[in-house]
Amino acid sequence: MKQQEQWTSKIGFILAAAGSAIGLGAIWKFPYIAGQNGGGAFFLLFIIFTLFLGLPLLLAEFSIGRTAQKNAVESYKTISPGTKWHWIGIMGMITSFLLLSFYSVIGGWIVAYLYKTLTGQLSSVDASSYAEIFGSTISHPFGSVLVQLIFMVMTILVVSRGVQQGIEKASKIMMPALFVLFILLVIRAVSLDGAMEGINFLLMPDFTKVTSQTILEAMGQSFFTLSVGVSVMVTYSSYLPKTENLPRAALSIGGMNIFIVLLAGLAIFPAVFAFDLQADAGPVLLFQVLPTVFSQLPGGMIFFAGFLLLFLFATLTSAFSMLEIIVSVLSKGDKAKRKKWAWITGLAIFAVGIPSTLSYGVLAEATLFGRTFFDNMDYVVSNILFPIGSLLIALYVPNKMKKSTLYEELQSGSRMKKGLFQTWFILLRYVAPLLIIIVMLDVLDVF
Ligand code: PHE
Repeated sequence: MKQQEQWTSKIGFILAAAGSAIGLGAIWKFPYIAGQNGGGAFFLLFIIFTLFLGLPLLLAEFSIGRTAQKNAVESYKTISPGTKWHWIGIMGMITSFLLLSFYSVIGGWIVAYLYKTLTGQLSSVDASSYAEIFGSTISHPFGSVLVQLIFMVMTILVVSRGVQQGIEKASKIMMPALFVLFILLVIRAVSLDGAMEGINFLLMPDFTKVTSQTILEAMGQSFFTLSVGVSVMVTYSSYLPKTENLPRAALSIGGMNIFIVLLAGLAIFPAVFAFDLQADAGPVLLFQVLPTVFSQLPGGMIFFAGFLLLFLFATLTSAFSMLEIIVSVLSKGDKAKRKKWAWITGLAIFAVGIPSTLSYGVLAEATLFGRTFFDNMDYVVSNILFPIGSLLIALYVPNKMKKSTLYEELQSGSRMKKGLFQTWFILLRYVAPLLIIIVMLDVLDVF
């Protein structure tokens, strides 16, 4: 095995890891789930879960990756040789493969919408037509597959260039651009007449709306948006030198993630209320509501194109991490093999993703267990593979790694206080497994 590549700068790692975290989860999924779950209360629960569960798990993945400094499978083999724990890494690869196969479907929708916006096809239609345009875009049998392919090729091209050349460089430009454009969007949205109601909806928790389902969805959302449970963060932290401050990195990634979720909410809900639209519109919220909103503003389509562009960036940086974990294992650090494996794996993911794309068109009627192909993929990944992966990591780190080694690893490059370390250890050892098991039993309808 060749010497591991490393990030060229601290900020490079933070941006790439935050890029993996911030994606469809924060920008597309959060607003629509919050919209369906009463807004503020869901947001508050999401923050609590991110701080007490998501962050400890993120730090757990970092400590595995940086202790071993190997890829997602070899890391577990190095720390616990002769055991079967490396299956956590193999499971992470499989989960990432399946996740990217349908994540790229929505990536394709963004590409299609961006194309339509830039070519002026969304500017001169009346508000009621956006639902129809969205419907025909995602159901077009050839067009929808083509945009998915374009999204996958973009992902493959960056990952095949390697960690330093590709992922880090791209993230360094993309992530700051994302923040700047988002802040502009928020300023635009909160200065609308009637925006206050939307701001209150997001920031004033209404606990009468909270059910056990809300609590569980908020927890799942915090794992998904932090990219924990699939060893992607093991992979990214394996490229770090021992001088990096891991607790601080985890905190800043968690902080950025909460911040972007706040920005997404502040960009969407004030506009929804100002224009009397539905906050609980579901997965279509962003694609149907935003063009309606933007089209009613002077220069709105330019704003919408800007929004779609940064949304595409955010989605791509998450996609890079899903492909990277697989390619890093298969290419074993060999540059020439990296390119080959990026193409083979990326195209295989695209092929497996085609039925997911067609689930919104010709395969809409083809259901199994009452769900389309897309929904079944999402179900298996989000409700089965993700929680099992998180649970295994929560069991692995405090039980299979030496406490003194962990303390040393987290102290390296930082001065983590003993009390904070203990809190982290307890959250990981007791709180995380218990809560995750409750979620899993609930999604399997045991309660
Ligand atoms: N965190 C990403 C998002 O919110 C999704 C993701 C999960 C990416 C797991 C990589 C690994 O969109």
